[in-house]
Amino acid sequence: MSSDSHKTLKLEEVISENHNVMAEEKPVINVGLQGIYIDESSICKVDGVLGKLYYRGYSIEELANNSSYEEVAYLLLYGSLPKKEELENFESQLKANRTLSESTIGIIKSMSKKAHPTDVLRTAVSSLAAEDLEMSDNSEDANFRKAVRLIAKMPTILAVIDRTRNDLEIVPPDASLGHTDNFMYMLTGNKPNELQSKLINLMFILHAEHSSNASTFSALVTGSTLADLYAAVTSGVATLKGPLHGGADEAALKMLKAIGSPANTETYINDALAGKQRIMGFGHRVYKTYDPRAKLLRGYLEESVNSAPPDVKNLTQIALAAEEIMIDRLGQSHGIWPNIDFFAGPLYVWAGVSADLFTPIFAASRVVGWCAHMIDYWRDNKLFRPLEYYTGQLDLKYVPIEKR
Ligand code: ACO
Repeated sequence: MSSDSHKTLKLEEVISENHNVMAEEKPVINVGLQGIYIDESSICKVDGVLGKLYYRGYSIEELANNSSYEEVAYLLLYGSLPKKEELENFESQLKANRTLSESTIGIIKSMSKKAHPTDVLRTAVSSLAAEDLEMSDNSEDANFRKAVRLIAKMPTILAVIDRTRNDLEIVPPDASLGHTDNFMYMLTGNKPNELQSKLINLMFILHAEHSSNASTFSALVTGSTLADLYAAVTSGVATLKGPLHGGADEAALKMLKAIGSPANTETYINDALAGKQRIMGFGHRVYKTYDPRAKLLRGYLEESVNSAPPDVKNLTQIALAAEEIMIDRLGQSHGIWPNIDFFAGPLYVWAGVSADLFTPIFAASRVVGWCAHMIDYWRDNKLFRPLEYYTGQLDLKYVPIEKR
């Protein structure tokens, strides 16, 4: 026996011994990672039993009633509410980074006008990596600067997408306007009225962060390979799109429109449930009670609906009727309650925002949550690599193609 084959034999013995030690017993499998904690974090607490949400210790009600998106973004990224000077500095950094390069605008213009804006946003966000001069710097300071660029540019990307597909002139950012007002201005060409201004700020605050949800987790998985922040955020946008997650807002409005009138609501919901369909905007993996963000949106809608146009009034009445029926059927009994996506539709319609922009607006707000989690996770990075229990066959013999 040559010394080489001797080595091979020994290696095989060692591997076989190791295999015996590691012989698999069927493990506990948590499909969808349900109930699995992936890390510790002080960014966000979701209390699914009491229906409470906190960003860095502040309740969502406290922030929604008193804060601006810029303040909330600073809080999430840096861990505390900014002092006046810190906020001014952060706002100036955001303003300084709003503009898109000709290349990014070109990429948006080159895409089909019929494409879903979330798909175009995902591509444009991904392309930002190619022009970031700090791409090779993965230091925490550089990543905070990249986060600011992403937060600043995503609303502009969305406005450019919408205006381009509608054959309208692109509206450059207005430095006299705050983050969300400027977004509405770039989107519509007009400075927002009081209702639009209050609503869009509220929407951005409520959507900014939500712990280890699917899109944040997906961003973390990507970043845990030490890919860059743009890669992580691109994953986040892609994951947010699905109707079981962020895409439910657009789907919920579609359903309200399909119901048509409050009188049709009960029959529609009964038929849908009997056909095992999901009612969009209801249910949540963590909240087994009323989502506090949905409660805030419902309150806002109820408070102002009297002055709303007829189509918004009608959608609101349908939504309230659907809510009552669903709580009666599945609320207490199954823990399926309205989530943030349910009441968003009528409010956005009122603000003049088209339905396919709901989810990418969600992304433009949630980007701060993705970045805050990613930067935090990198402080003690560990590659995500879960296991899968194999149930297939082993040691099959290769059959040449002509004999199969
Ligand atoms: N309408 C009807 N039935 C529902 C709904 C719903 N909205 N949500 C859950 N169920 C039922 C399921 O059919 C299932 O019933 P079964 O046990 O008889 O099969 C049971 O409740 C459990 O559902 P799962 O999907 O296993 O529960 P999970 O915790 O994974 O679901 C989810 C969470 C995906 C959000 C679900 O409630 C859903 O599909 N909701 C509709 C989509 C939606 O609104 N998504 C937005 C969530 S908020 C956000 O991501 C921003």
